[in-house]
Amino acid sequence: MFKVNKHDEITRMVMGSEVNGRVIFTVAAYLVDGLLIDTGGHNTRWELVDYLSKRKITMVVNTHHHVDHIGANKLIMERLKTPVFASRGCMPIIAEKQDIFLFQEELWGCPEPCCVKPLGDIVETGSYSFQVIPTTGHSTDHVVFFLRERGWLFTGDEFLTEKPNSARKNENNEQIVLALKKMLALEPELLFTSAGRIYQRGSVILSRTINYFEEIKHKAHKLKKSGLNSQEIAFKLFGEETPMRDYTLGVFSHQNFIEGFLMDHEENGCC
Ligand SMILES: [Fe+2]
Repeated sequence: MFKVNKHDEITRMVMGSEVNGRVIFTVAAYLVDGLLIDTGGHNTRWELVDYLSKRKITMVVNTHHHVDHIGANKLIMERLKTPVFASRGCMPIIAEKQDIFLFQEELWGCPEPCCVKPLGDIVETGSYSFQVIPTTGHSTDHVVFFLRERGWLFTGDEFLTEKPNSARKNENNEQIVLALKKMLALEPELLFTSAGRIYQRGSVILSRTINYFEEIKHKAHKLKKSGLNSQEIAFKLFGEETPMRDYTLGVFSHQNFIEGFLMDHEENGCC
């Protein structure tokens, strides 16, 4: 699946692989003033490159190393002769073949390793100057891109939805909330997410999301004190587990989301 639409001057490309005739997950890349933000999965790399080959593209940036964000890097570098940039933490990971789960292979494919250039603090396009802001919540190498004059914030996976209820294993919600607060401090007007959804009133949305996390944290700790384990807390707050738990063999689940409030150390995730 490869769908394109426009929002103001921004082109949004939404990509996803079919599994049993259905697209389970989508990921978005954005093109603005010749700057491409993220490159989707390896499975959709040819659709993306075919589309971009007829457009102005001068530079590519990655928000983080996860396979659904870097999959077309190598093909873009080879076919379009366009440089790709990523954070210093991201660079060594995408320079190697990543060890991925079966569901990631099915949904996105495994990216070919490639050497990209280091991002600075600013990304200059013909007309704009984007701030590069490390957020390190969703993954330790994550950055977001902010255009202050327009209030545009490209959030990558750092903000996807207002009320998440499932998460990757070992995702630390304290770190996620710090990242949300860092983004809120920018006072963004529009949030361009990697899930493809674009949110208006960005600051209000981020504020509400932070409050939601605090509320679930409070409830989770209270239920833990009453003697429930993380699986029971997840059931109490969100009901039956998401089908994604079985599909990902437990990598994504409601229970993981709850455990993200109860852990006391930082660990890395996978997608
Ligand atoms: Fe990710």
